[in-house]
Amino acid sequence: MSTVVALDIGSSAIAGVELKVGRDRVSLSKASVEPISSGLVHDGEILQPDELSDELKRFWKHAKFSGKKVRLGVANQRVVVRVIDLPVMDDDADRAAAVEFEAGEHIPIPPDQSVVDFQPIMRYQGEEGERERLVVVAAHREMVDQLVSVVKRAGLQPVGIDLEAFALLRALQAPPMVLDEGSVDTPAQAVVHVGAEVTHVIVSVDRNCHFTRMIGFGGEQLTRSIEERVKLPHDEAEAMKVACGLLGPGVQGWDKSTVDEVRHALALGARPLVREVARSLDYYRSQPFSRGIQRITLSGGSSLCTGLDRYLQQGVGIKVDVGDPLGQLDAGDVPSELSARIAVAVGLSLDTPGGAS
Ligand SMILES: Nc1ncnc2c1ncn2[C@@H]1O[C@H](COP(=O)(O)OP(=O)(O)OP(=O)(O)O)[C@@H](O)[C@H]1O
Ligand SMILES: [Mg+2]
Repeated sequence: MSTVVALDIGSSAIAGVELKVGRDRVSLSKASVEPISSGLVHDGEILQPDELSDELKRFWKHAKFSGKKVRLGVANQRVVVRVIDLPVMDDDADRAAAVEFEAGEHIPIPPDQSVVDFQPIMRYQGEEGERERLVVVAAHREMVDQLVSVVKRAGLQPVGIDLEAFALLRALQAPPMVLDEGSVDTPAQAVVHVGAEVTHVIVSVDRNCHFTRMIGFGGEQLTRSIEERVKLPHDEAEAMKVACGLLGPGVQGWDKSTVDEVRHALALGARPLVREVARSLDYYRSQPFSRGIQRITLSGGSSLCTGLDRYLQQGVGIKVDVGDPLGQLDAGDVPSELSARIAVAVGLSLDTPGGAS
């Protein structure tokens, strides 16, 4: 059995995860997160392909992963996700053709420039017979090709590619109980994944994605808020963000008034996050298929910002918990600084039954 490593290429770091499949448990055999130079990836898009290939080569050498096969994630403005409803079709080819046609109606990417994929999420009785709800993903072909070629140029072999939102649901939500599956009473859950530059808001039912939106907000904005309001250089502002968080006891080496100032700057800086998450959830709720949202799972590097969960909970009025992407694995002692940043990669690894191929 050859190993597949899942790679999450973010704007601040590359995260890699390798799982080992046992008889009835999947364990984490290796995880690594390494910073990358800024400017190579922005808002989920590759800006400097050659430099990124070089960083990937370095990452691979350093982390000592096995083999060359990799599974990749995508999430940027050039991937569109829509939920569509169709009459139930037993013939797969008919269904694929109907999805392509509907995608043309709903998705603003010319068909000859897109790669389209879909997942059925539920069946229900409509007025004119049984209907099926599907989540359709369309990505610009050129963007996918570019990612694949960057990874190949680093000497790696891409064997799978998936939406980061789907990966996050696999990593952060337990599989639905068979008894509940498909029940109309099952409430929705949300994931808010806050990285360095972008945030994913995902609403799911039974671990199926019903809505996802990417917000141009991340930990970098929090750092910049400290930089501007407390007048500190970027590196110091970053260190203060990590040391202080939004709440907690005093910080050794810093007077109380500076810590308060940093926390105030963080609270102001986090306002757009709360506003945009609330707007996204309102939009979801305005859809005819929406359900009540039971809770939000917070993840991503910025979920390490102490108090951000409570701040978000107060702002949107829904219970927020910090997620554990290793909860379904045998992982041993993994520091939270690492686990918060590997949620996407863990979910990508869980792509195939048993977690590897
Ligand atoms: N202890 C901490 N407290 C606050 N913020 C933190 C902490 N640790 C990491 N971060 C922030 O997490 C962010 C990095 O998270 P992550 O690794 O998820 O980002 P990324 O995947 O590179 O970015 P993106 O997906 O947005 O392109 C940075 O903004 C960093 O400042
Ligand atoms: Mg990320």
